Amino acid sequence: MSDRYALVGNPVAHSKSPWIHSEFARATSQDLEYGLLESPLDGFAATVQRFRAAGGKGLNVTLPFKQEAFGLCRSLSERARRAQAVNTLVLETGFGDNTDGIGLVRDLQNLNQPFGQVLLLGAGGAAQGVVGPLLDAGASRVVIANRTASKAKELAERFPGAAGQGYEGLAGEFDLVINATSAGLIDETPPLPPGLLRAGVLAYDMVYGRETPFLAAAKRAGARTSDGLGMLVEQAAESFFIWRGVRPQTRPVLAKLRGS
Ligand code: ATR
Repeated sequence: MSDRYALVGNPVAHSKSPWIHSEFARATSQDLEYGLLESPLDGFAATVQRFRAAGGKGLNVTLPFKQEAFGLCRSLSERARRAQAVNTLVLETGFGDNTDGIGLVRDLQNLNQPFGQVLLLGAGGAAQGVVGPLLDAGASRVVIANRTASKAKELAERFPGAAGQGYEGLAGEFDLVINATSAGLIDETPPLPPGLLRAGVLAYDMVYGRETPFLAAAKRAGARTSDGLGMLVEQAAESFFIWRGVRPQTRPVLAKLRGS
């Protein structure tokens, strides 16, 4: 029987992860299946336990369970500990890791984007996982801006090199502006002061599969733009490596997803 993996979350129905992992498995000749596991909001631990008891080898964890997964692990990687969130579980050992940050960093490297001064929008689960990896990858400073300024300040306090604030009074010459808010999912955009998005900046939205108002505004302002599809593929590749010890190539998979 093939080794079984899945993405657990709520909702999970439209995820591209099963397709991505089956492409990786085919390309690396690994015998595995990767499915979708929708968990009730109040039944995450039981859902994980059932999958493990049925022989499941590993899980990716998505919204809204990454923090809860962090609390369930018997051992954690350093990067998961820093993020206080887990997106990759190895079920035999109870090990938890977080591949979101390295996924973003690798995608930015593929885009030949220097890190420099980074403005990170949002202070929720998506933002939390990437602050440490951005600083490790060479960002000279990460400014975290959030609608609820206190959350940005709290997050920044955990990382030397980061600072947190609200959107008002936001100023500076940023090389990279990353939207880690969920605003784009409801067709809204974080209230950025004018002038921050301009030619020479890369505006990156972690959301994929749609042009968010943030990316549309960035384009109008002459900035380079990217959605989060490459991050999705890169974080999947890192999870695959953790489970299988084999590193799949990401470029062909991303190209296929983009239909090119
Ligand atoms: P996720 O795990 O996707 O980050 P989350 O933890 O609920 O989800 O966090 C959502 C983030 O998007 C938060 O930073 C939130 O700002 P607040 O902390 O002030 O709520 C931000 N967000 C959501 N909708 C937004 C909007 N319309 N404008 C600006 N920020 C928004």
